Amino acid sequence: MEHKKLVKSAIQAMAGAYVPYSGFKVGAALLTKSGKVYTGCNIENAAFSPSNCAERTAFFKAVSEGEKEFAAIAIVGGLEGKIKEYCPPCGVCRQVMSEFCADDFIIILGKEDDEYKSYTLAELLPLRFSEKDIR
Ligand code: THU
Repeated sequence: MEHKKLVKSAIQAMAGAYVPYSGFKVGAALLTKSGKVYTGCNIENAAFSPSNCAERTAFFKAVSEGEKEFAAIAIVGGLEGKIKEYCPPCGVCRQVMSEFCADDFIIILGKEDDEYKSYTLAELLPLRFSEKDIR
């Protein structure tokens, strides 16, 4: 699937964001190697720490349905859902990506569906801690 279409799905997913505390809506669209797309949004909580980022929502939806092979994720975000800047994934989400994805997994940061830039996981999380470090 084209990156442009994936960014469009991420923009649509932002609509589901539950953000009564920050007002910052994030949407993500995760592409499996078989071509399926799992979307996610951020879901906040009055106790703050149980909040979940959009990227992890997408990953947990996909993994809970048996998916383990991922090609790319598109991410967008902005206050009140208005996208002004690129929204890079937080460190916790990068670590979750690391659990399921190889160095060449693609992370697409979008502004509009035809304005985006992409990175590999290796670029955004160099020297990552993984399963091999605890064997
Ligand atoms: N957020 C995400 O959903 N993804 C990120 O990678 C960065 C932050 C959310 C968490 C919180 O609901 C809001 O954005 C403000 O931090």
